[in-house]
Amino acid sequence: MSKPRSLIAGNWKMNGLSADGWALADAIVQGARDLPAGRAELLVCPPATLIGLVAEAVTGSPVALGGQDCHADRSGAHTGDVSAAMLADLGCRYVIVGHSERRADHGESSATVRAKAEAAQAAGLSAIVCVGETWAEREAGKTEEVVTAQVAESLPAASTSGNLVVAYEPVWAIGSGRTATPEQVAEVHALIRRQLGSRMDDAGAVRILYGGSVKPANAVELLAVAHVDGALVGGSSLKAGDFLAIAAAAPAQAG
Ligand code: 13P
Repeated sequence: MSKPRSLIAGNWKMNGLSADGWALADAIVQGARDLPAGRAELLVCPPATLIGLVAEAVTGSPVALGGQDCHADRSGAHTGDVSAAMLADLGCRYVIVGHSERRADHGESSATVRAKAEAAQAAGLSAIVCVGETWAEREAGKTEEVVTAQVAESLPAASTSGNLVVAYEPVWAIGSGRTATPEQVAEVHALIRRQLGSRMDDAGAVRILYGGSVKPANAVELLAVAHVDGALVGGSSLKAGDFLAIAAAAPAQAG
């Protein structure tokens, strides 16, 4: 089976006010026109406050929009939270769930992440479910155990390649400038692919993204690794030039 089309996703995290958000989204939309046609799908995930504004900036462009988190409920008494239906209403097609910063900062368990992913899928969004080990877990030889458990417990049963993306983000590689080696990435992505294969029919078409200090200088190498179908980019997604350079590094698709 041919590789799925790469997804290059920018997670802006808690960055940007209106003017910056508009300028960044606009620069990405303009620059996307110069990318090789059909090579990669571009996605921007601004903070919730900027989604409406960025939706305007990307309208009519091939750049997709996503949220960074959603609540598991559709609506109700959850002060400060945003539902998947609200994101869909603003034009989002994706939402990141289970990012390690949310697992750490908000104590989210894999069961919570799974409930959020189910809510996303029910609202018509694709859930980008993040998994990844800490450095202590890797040092203890527990990478496979941790990632396997996170995948088993965080993915909704009804997932398909149309409503699920998995992102492998080793916690120690996030924002650290310390990228996983292609060998480390290959090993975990193959593990995730095998695990998907044991639970879904179209596992080969599910995109598995790598995230953690992806930048233009290492994107070609990382995106060429087997079972790497794109990148989830933090810091480098805040500079349009860097984000576009990462997108340009996506390998050409066979079909
Ligand atoms: P950095 O690219 O800044 O390491 O962040 C990765 C990440 O957490 C994307 O979700």
